[in-house]
Amino acid sequence: MAFNPGLSSPDWRARLSTEAAAAPASGIAEVMRHGFGRSGIIPLWVGEGDQPTPAFLCKAAAAALARGETFYMPQAGLVELRSALAAYHDRLYGGLFGAPFRAERFFATGSGMQAIQIAIRLAAGAGDEVIVPTPAWPNFAAAVGVAGASARQVPLHFAATGWHLDLDDVERSIGPRTRALFLNSPSNPTGWTASEAELSAILNLCRRYGLWIIADEVYSRFTYDAARRSTPSLHSIIATHDRVLFVNTFSKNWAMTGWRIGWIEAPEALGPPIENLIQYSTSGVAVFMQRAAVLALTQGEAALAALVERSRAGRDIVIGALARLPGIEFAPPGAFYLFFRVAGVSDSTSFASTLIRQANVGLAPGSAFGLGGEGFFRLCFARDPNDLRAACGRLADWMAARSPS
Ligand SMILES: Cc1ncc(COP(=O)(O)O)c(C=O)c1O
Repeated sequence: MAFNPGLSSPDWRARLSTEAAAAPASGIAEVMRHGFGRSGIIPLWVGEGDQPTPAFLCKAAAAALARGETFYMPQAGLVELRSALAAYHDRLYGGLFGAPFRAERFFATGSGMQAIQIAIRLAAGAGDEVIVPTPAWPNFAAAVGVAGASARQVPLHFAATGWHLDLDDVERSIGPRTRALFLNSPSNPTGWTASEAELSAILNLCRRYGLWIIADEVYSRFTYDAARRSTPSLHSIIATHDRVLFVNTFSKNWAMTGWRIGWIEAPEALGPPIENLIQYSTSGVAVFMQRAAVLALTQGEAALAALVERSRAGRDIVIGALARLPGIEFAPPGAFYLFFRVAGVSDSTSFASTLIRQANVGLAPGSAFGLGGEGFFRLCFARDPNDLRAACGRLADWMAARSPS
C-alpha cells in the first residue's frame, strides 16, 4: 500500500508552481551523478579546486561555536564582516566614487548563489527578461526562471584568439520587458574576461536602456597577469547613479565551496529590500561562518595567492597537453577553467558520459552551459598537477583509440 497516495498519484507534478515544475536539472549535476564515486575517476567537472579550506579559517569557525556564538544575528551580516568587506574592496580598487567603500554597501548572503537569487529578484519579476551571455554557468538562467522571469541568451562568439561579446547582439536582444544584463567576467565556463574598455561599453549600453547589471566577478582574483591583483572590474568605472548589483562569494578565493557564504554589494539605498529578501529566505548567515569570513578577508591573502598559483600551474599543464591533441581547439582560459571544443562532437553529454565510463575522466559537457556551448567541454584546472597530467594522458589515449586513422 502506498504510504501517501497523493504523492504517487499521476498529477502531483501538475500541482507544483509553474516555476518549480519548469526548473531544469543542471546538466553538470547530471554528468556528475553518472560518475560520482567511481573508483579512480579524475573529477574535473565541477567548479572547485581540490584543496580543503585553510586550517586557520576552520579554527576561527570552530572557536566561534565553542564560544557559544550560536544565536540569530543581524540579517544584513555582522558589522565586522561588512566593514572587512569594505576594507578588502578598498585595498583592491582604491575606494569607490572618490571615497573609501562604505560597509553599508555590503550584505552577507548564504552563498554566491543566494546573492545571485537576491540580485535577480531585486531587478526582475514575473514576465520580465534578463539577458544572459552564453555559454554561461547554468544557474544564472535557471535562477531567472525560478524568479518567474525569462533568460534571453546571447551567445558569445568563439575564436581561438578569445571569446567575444558583440554588443550589437546584446542591443538587438533588448525588448520592452528587459530589466537586466547578467555579466560574468571572468566567465565560467569560457574564461572570457572583459577589458576595461569592454566594461565601459557594456555599462554605457545598460545606462542607455536603464538596465541593471548583475555583475558576477567571483573569479576576479584568479588573474594570471603578474602585474594585476584582480581582473578589470566595474568597480573602477561606475558612477553613483549606475544600477549595478555585485554578487560574490568566499567559495573560490578561500576554498570554501562547502561552507555556503557570499555577499551582495549594492547601492546603500537598497538596504531595506535586500535585508527583507534575506529575512524571508535564510534570515541571515550563520555567525561562525561570518567569523571565518572576516579572517579570510583580513588575513587570507597568502592562502589565496597559493590557490591562484596552483591554478596557474594547472592551467599551464592542461594547455600544454591539450594543445598537442588533434581536433581540440580553445581560447586562452580564464577563471580556473579550460573550455575546449572537440571536432566532430555534436552531443557533449553523451561524449562526457562515455569518457567517464571508458577513460575515468570527468568533464562538464558544453551543452549544460546554454547556447554556443554544444561541442565544448569544461575542465577545472584548480587541482593536483599529477591528476591533471594523468587526466590529459587518459583523454589523449582515449581519443587516439577512437580515432579512425
Ligand atoms: C560564476 C559563478 N558565480 C557564482 C557562483 C556561486 O558560488 P557559491 O554559490 O559556491 O558561492 C559560482 C559557482 O560555481 C560561479 O561559477
